[in-house]
Amino acid sequence: MGSRHLTIGLSLTATWRKGIRPLDEADAEASKKGSIGFNVELAKMAENAKLDFVFKPDFTGGAPSGGKDRADGARPRPAADRPENAAVGLDPLLMLAALSQQTERIGLVTTASTTFNPPYQVARQLQSLNWMSNGRAGWNIVTSMDGAQNFGDEPMPTPEVRYRRAAEFTDVVRDLWNSNQFDGESTPINHKGELFAVRGPLSIPAHPAGRIPLFQAGASDAGRDFAASVADAIFGAIPDLAAGIELRADLRRRAEAKGRSPDDIRVLPGLYFFLAKTREEARELHRLGHAHLGRDKRVESVKSIIGLDVSELDDTDRVTASMLPDPQMKVRSRTHADLLHRFIGENEPTVEELLTRPEVVGSAHWVSVGTVDDVIREIVTWHEAGALDGFIALPGGSWGSMRLFFDELMPRLSEMGLFRKEYEGSSLGAHLGISREV
Ligand SMILES: Cc1cc2nc3c(=O)[nH]c(=O)nc-3n(C[C@H](O)[C@H](O)[C@H](O)COP(=O)(O)O)c2cc1C
Repeated sequence: MGSRHLTIGLSLTATWRKGIRPLDEADAEASKKGSIGFNVELAKMAENAKLDFVFKPDFTGGAPSGGKDRADGARPRPAADRPENAAVGLDPLLMLAALSQQTERIGLVTTASTTFNPPYQVARQLQSLNWMSNGRAGWNIVTSMDGAQNFGDEPMPTPEVRYRRAAEFTDVVRDLWNSNQFDGESTPINHKGELFAVRGPLSIPAHPAGRIPLFQAGASDAGRDFAASVADAIFGAIPDLAAGIELRADLRRRAEAKGRSPDDIRVLPGLYFFLAKTREEARELHRLGHAHLGRDKRVESVKSIIGLDVSELDDTDRVTASMLPDPQMKVRSRTHADLLHRFIGENEPTVEELLTRPEVVGSAHWVSVGTVDDVIREIVTWHEAGALDGFIALPGGSWGSMRLFFDELMPRLSEMGLFRKEYEGSSLGAHLGISREV
């Protein structure tokens, strides 16, 4: 294990400008650069701040119904009026391949679904990105919540089937990466499993920088078990401190039960931040960022997550566990459903309180609103409480909020000794301090 400062990534989704009008000047400037130019600029800013990686989620299901946020925090239907918004839908691998030519040190974590791809293809694409970036690729393994309609007539497989497939898929990918060694050894894998038959070897050798780090997102029981067996890091939907403490402790326990060190797995919540010079401005940014989500949309969101209809209730009515539909009912994401069940069970919130929760309006990510000092204080609290090993920044608010993150917040974390001042290596594995073996 390398030094355990925080692990920090930046999500390349246009999370920060929905509903924000008018644009400030810098915002409008950034907008003119087009989708790739804009992302190149973000990646360079992130590299300049020595972040571990930039990260691109991926959804091939189109816009989910209900106008709800997606799991990564991005809104489903970006306004097409700004070029950077088109970037939300770009194929992540192609986008990161382009960024690999414009950056030198920062990790490039792409998302590939095990539900809709063949493993040979993913193994080859990831290893290609790894070569193109000189050892900087990472794979975010997802099982996807929807999208089946774009890959045939079959409905979405059940979560159990998706995770079984993910486990075998990941084994095959790792075997393929091992099948063609940099020093010239290349052997077939002859995999014949329940779901895949793959001969191998892979067409390109492993990169000498070492193995490709694995990320995972999805925190149901099956998701946690899968993550504990393979993942170096988890992208977590973690709306509050208690949820972070629970998830991290549980994943560490599970990793140990599987013969790994608890430190082998890092919990990285999405941190949806709204930064400004004053608290009032930050709160206003946050308000504007959610202004497009009226009561109807929020009510619909609750329904789509847990099947509960609160449309007939008053804002002051309390929502209790006894009102919840069967907790085992089929849902899009067990992770998100469980989080909302937990919140309702523990808090018996009013409808008004429920409709402002991150699970309902922001994909269940931790929301931090305030000055640089405020947000740093929260990060430190979460870190000291054992709720995180780092985070994936989901910029909210505006370009100005993003600048505060890079110009003030990140340097402060470095000065406090919580984050690196310089890169020590040039591969993602080196940034994460993971061993070189595959
Ligand atoms: C924080 C987070 C991010 C996710 N990002 C993606 C993504 O980019 N693409 C995707 O297809 N699925 C994504 N998912 C969906 C998961 O891979 C998974 O299919 C879903 O959460 C259901 O798994 P579960 O039963 O473990 O909750 C994400 C889930 C979470 C919690």
